[in-house]
Amino acid sequence: MIYAVGNQKGGVGKTTTVVNLGAWLGSHGKRVLCVDIDPQGNTTTGFGIKKKNLEKSSYDVLVGKVKITEAIVKTPFEGISVLPATDDLAGCEIELSAAENRTNRLKMQLLTCKDDYDIILIDCPPALGLLTLNGLTAADELIIPMLAEFFALEGLSQLTNTLKIVRRSFNPSLQIAGILFVMFDPRLNVSRQVETEVEKYFPGKVFKTKIPRNVRISEAPSHGKPVMYYDKGSKGAEAYEELGYEILKEEKPESEKKKKLLFFGKKKKESGKNKDMAEGTEVSEDSSKKE
Ligand SMILES: Nc1ncnc2c1ncn2[C@@H]1O[C@H](COP(=O)(O)OP(=O)(O)OP(=O)(O)O)[C@@H](O)[C@H]1O
Ligand SMILES: [Mg+2]
Repeated sequence: MIYAVGNQKGGVGKTTTVVNLGAWLGSHGKRVLCVDIDPQGNTTTGFGIKKKNLEKSSYDVLVGKVKITEAIVKTPFEGISVLPATDDLAGCEIELSAAENRTNRLKMQLLTCKDDYDIILIDCPPALGLLTLNGLTAADELIIPMLAEFFALEGLSQLTNTLKIVRRSFNPSLQIAGILFVMFDPRLNVSRQVETEVEKYFPGKVFKTKIPRNVRISEAPSHGKPVMYYDKGSKGAEAYEELGYEILKEEKPESEKKKKLLFFGKKKKESGKNKDMAEGTEVSEDSSKKE
């Protein structure tokens, strides 16, 4: 299965989702390829790959200089390979603009290696240029990360338009895997309002899993690690695990759930100070932790 992770808006968690969902899927026994086609190369550095040491990258693949298998690098993280991006990619749109098959170059290359992987995640740049079109043309499904803020609603019609164009001209079978709310705070009215509006636009397509704002998620890339390898018990790592199960349509095993349950004793219940901590209430281990 090939997922593009895309949204023309910048800074909505596309890269964070590719890195952290990919890492969890890899640790869950899947063979994962993360494809970086954003000239910022954040997925590449997010996995700790040093761009200056790379001889081949997604740029070389897209312009037809090398085969994709020559540019893919293995990471130290279980199950994860990466097609890295370097700064060269910034010029790629112009170079490709008059080229043949300019929107299906990534697709053609992925066809040659897709059997080596169970899941391919493509990190798209925040614009609807040729690079994103290559991502959307190659994908079976699109994951759309989004912030639960008013401006996200303004982007919705643009997003549906983009999907129409892509389906009509490049990839008729492209499906929406789901809208993923990132940096989500369920306590805010605006979060719930935006979720309701988005659900109206894309009925049944909003992922149940919401990714909370979590400082560990934002710290992890500077250590060149996905959050689950930086702080396994963090809320961020748990949220991406939950998303992984949702995407695979798998139930989390009971044994895993039990580890996370804390049953608070009679004393707390009697004190009546915190309803959530009443006996038998399921509280994830991490919700009692500070970020
Ligand atoms: N759940 C989260 N909690 C806290 N910080 C987050 C979370 N998700 C993402 N971030 C931070 O928000 C910033 C933007 O995230 P990210 O780079 O994943 O977005 P993007 O959509 O890929 O951006 P771009 O459009 O520039 O490629 C990053 O600094 C990232 O560390
Ligand atoms: Mg990004």
